[in-house]
Amino acid sequence: MAIVLAGGIAATPDGAYRADVRIDGETIAEVGIRVARDGDDILDVSGKYLLPGGIDAHTHFDLPMPDGTRTADGFFTGTRAAAAGGTTCVIDYATQFKGESLREGLDNWRRLADGKCFCDYAFHLAVTDWNDSARGELPEIILSGVTSFKMYMAYKGSLQVDDGVIYRALKHVTEAGGLLCVHCENGDVISALREELIRAGRVGPEFHTVSRPPAVETEAVSRLLSIASLAGAPVYVVHVSACSSMKKIIEAKAGGARLFAETCPQYLYLDDSLYGGGWEAAKYVCSPPLRGRENHDGLWASLRSGFADVVATDHCSFNFAGQKDKGRGDFGGIPNGMPGVESRVLLMYKGVAEGRLSLPAMVSAVSSNPAAIFGMFPRKGALIPRADADVVVLNPSGRTVISARTQFQNVDYTPFEGIEIPASIDAVYLRGVEIFRDGKFLGNTPIGRYVPRCSSGAPVISGNAQPAARF
Ligand code: URP
Ligand code: ZN
Ligand code: ZN
Repeated sequence: MAIVLAGGIAATPDGAYRADVRIDGETIAEVGIRVARDGDDILDVSGKYLLPGGIDAHTHFDLPMPDGTRTADGFFTGTRAAAAGGTTCVIDYATQFKGESLREGLDNWRRLADGKCFCDYAFHLAVTDWNDSARGELPEIILSGVTSFKMYMAYKGSLQVDDGVIYRALKHVTEAGGLLCVHCENGDVISALREELIRAGRVGPEFHTVSRPPAVETEAVSRLLSIASLAGAPVYVVHVSACSSMKKIIEAKAGGARLFAETCPQYLYLDDSLYGGGWEAAKYVCSPPLRGRENHDGLWASLRSGFADVVATDHCSFNFAGQKDKGRGDFGGIPNGMPGVESRVLLMYKGVAEGRLSLPAMVSAVSSNPAAIFGMFPRKGALIPRADADVVVLNPSGRTVISARTQFQNVDYTPFEGIEIPASIDAVYLRGVEIFRDGKFLGNTPIGRYVPRCSSGAPVISGNAQPAARF
C-alpha cells in the first residue's frame, strides 16, 4: 500500500509549491496535485512543509581520542539524534590513522556503524598517513563508493599533514574521481601560540580561541586555494567560521575556481562571548573556535547568495562532566568539538523564519547540495520520482525549544540551550518508513543503510530540482 502525504508544501531548491508526495515502498512514486490512488493510505499534512531528508555531511561519531576515550555519541545515539532532527543521512569521517591502510581505516568505521544506524550513512575518509601505498588504494576505494577524503592542516603531531602532501593528494584524488575536503587552520602557528600562552600561565578554556584567531583559518584557506589551483583540483573547505575566510572563498569562486564551502550552525548563531564564563567555556571548545558576532551576517549572506554551499554540523560530542574536564589546567587538553546533529535542520529553518535565508536556499544547504557534491543526488536530496522516500514533515506552526533535557543526543549539554524555533519536526520518513512522529521514535530498530556514493565530480542536477547555488 502506498502512502500519500497530502496537501503539503514541497520545499525544494527551486521553490516551494503545493504538492502531495506519494510514497510507494522505499521510493517516491509521484509528486503533484491529487496523486492518491484507490487503496492508498492518505495522511493530511496541509500547511506543513515537506522537505527532502536532511543530509549532514560532517559528523564524528565514535571518534577515538589519543587517550583512548571516544566521543559521547556513537553511531546508535548519533544517528538517532540526527533522525529526530530531520536528518536522514549522515556522512561521517572515517579516519585512516598512522600505520593503517586506507581500507583498514574504512573497515574499522564500517564495523562501528553497521547495524547501529537509525538513518542512512556514508563515509568520507580522513587520511593522516599519505604514502605510495595509500595512493595506490585510491581507485579501488573510490570505485567502492567512498568518493571523498579529508586532510587536516591543523592538529600538529597527530592529524596534520604538510602542504606537499595536500598538493599530491589533491592531484591523485582528483585524477581518481574523488574530492578532497580540508580542515583549514595553520597548525604550526597554533602550536606556537599555544606554547606562548601556556608559558604565560594562560591555561584556561578561554585561551583556546586566543590560540586560534581568525587569521590562522584565513591564512590556511588562502594557502589551500593556491595549492588547489596549482594542482588543478577542486576542493571542499569544511567548517568555515570567519568572514575573512569566506571572503577568500568568494573571491576564488568569482574567479572561476571550482570549490565548495561548508559552514555550521554554531558559526551562524553562537559567538566568542561564550568563552567569557570560566570553566563553562570548555563546552564551546571546538576548532575553529566560535567567532565574534560581527561574522554572523556575512556567513548568512554567503548562504543566501550560494557562495557557501553546505551547512553541516561537525557534530563531535564530549560530555562537559568527565570528558571536557580532561583539559583542566591546560586548554590544549580539552577534547575539541561540540554536539549539534539534532538541531541543524530546525536551526536553519529558524533562519528562514527570521528572513535570513529563503526556504529553497535552506533546502539546498541542508540537503540537495551535500547530496550533489558528495555523489548521492538525486537518489538523496530530492523530492522527485524514484528518489529515496526520505521526507521530513516540518510544521511551521509548531514550536521547539532546544534543550539538553529533551534531546536525543547522548551528551550532557547542548551549545544551543534555550534557542527557540518557530517550527517542529512532525514526522520523518526514511526510505518510505515513518521512523519518527511527534517527538517519538516509532520503533527501536536501527534500519539505516550504508550508502555507497558516486564520483564527486561536478554535480549534475537534473529532474525538477535545481539547487539555488550555482556549481
Ligand atoms: O573541534 C572540532 N571541530 N572537532 C572535530 C574535528 C574537526 O576538526 O573537524
Ligand atoms: Zn575540522
Ligand atoms: Zn570535523
